[in-house]
Amino acid sequence: MRKILIIGIGAGHPDYITIQAIEAMKQAQVFFVTDKGSAKADLVRARTEICERHLAANSYRIVTIQDPERDRTTPAYESAVNAWHEQRRVIYEQLIASELGDNDCGAFLVWGDPSLYDSTLRIVQQMASRATIPFEFDVIPGITAIQALTARHRIPLHDIAESVRITTGRQLAATASLDHDDLVVLLDGKCAFNDIADADIDIYWGAYLGTDDELLLSGKLRATAEKIEQARASARERKGWIMDTYLLRRSRK
Ligand SMILES: C[S@@+](CC[C@H](N)C(=O)[O-])C[C@H]1O[C@@H](n2cnc3c(N)ncnc32)[C@H](O)[C@@H]1O
Repeated sequence: MRKILIIGIGAGHPDYITIQAIEAMKQAQVFFVTDKGSAKADLVRARTEICERHLAANSYRIVTIQDPERDRTTPAYESAVNAWHEQRRVIYEQLIASELGDNDCGAFLVWGDPSLYDSTLRIVQQMASRATIPFEFDVIPGITAIQALTARHRIPLHDIAESVRITTGRQLAATASLDHDDLVVLLDGKCAFNDIADADIDIYWGAYLGTDDELLLSGKLRATAEKIEQARASARERKGWIMDTYLLRRSRK
């Protein structure tokens, strides 16, 4: 039986990778790495370096997957994402059939943790339920951008026994308000924190967390928003891409 491992590698620092992830990597003969264009070349390189650091040379192969383009022109966000996932599923299925022998193990190295805003696990689940090519699969957890953010700011994620909401910049822009005292925002290309009218909010922001380019800013949202926008714009200009995450926290009385 073929085996697929979906391995979380942590969201930034090469040492975020767990011993369990390294042991899982040793089982794989083939690593599938998605190429999302030149802007994300750094992330492909990070995965390649992890393989070089933890695995014996010549004990594995890296197969690069050309990621299909998502239709960003249509306002029908969900159907565009579903169509994109379907294209990816077809590509993954072809690769598993052509690159893995009957008893081989292939691995996807997923940035951060596979359960958080990443489609690999969803696509592999779809492939498994269709059973066109039979395989078993396992998931190895990783340190997410959220843990990296709170660790680097040295803050707890939430107040004692309270809840926290995790959302996207797109969702935050749609509501433009805090429905929880603690709100973590990922995937925000447009600084949706600017839309929040509430004055009494703190922000803890981090970009390229865990890497040499890491940027951290925190303070009252009103006083910090512009600094974040500027830091974000110049970092993006310099590197060609940016990944940032932030926690919005209603100020405690
Ligand atoms: C597609 S999601 C992947 C999340 C990932 N699976 C995780 O567990 O963190 C990409 C988003 O994660 C966040 N992110 C990932 N790595 C980051 C990092 N090193 N620094 C800041 N934000 C990061 C950003 O919000 C980015 O837009």
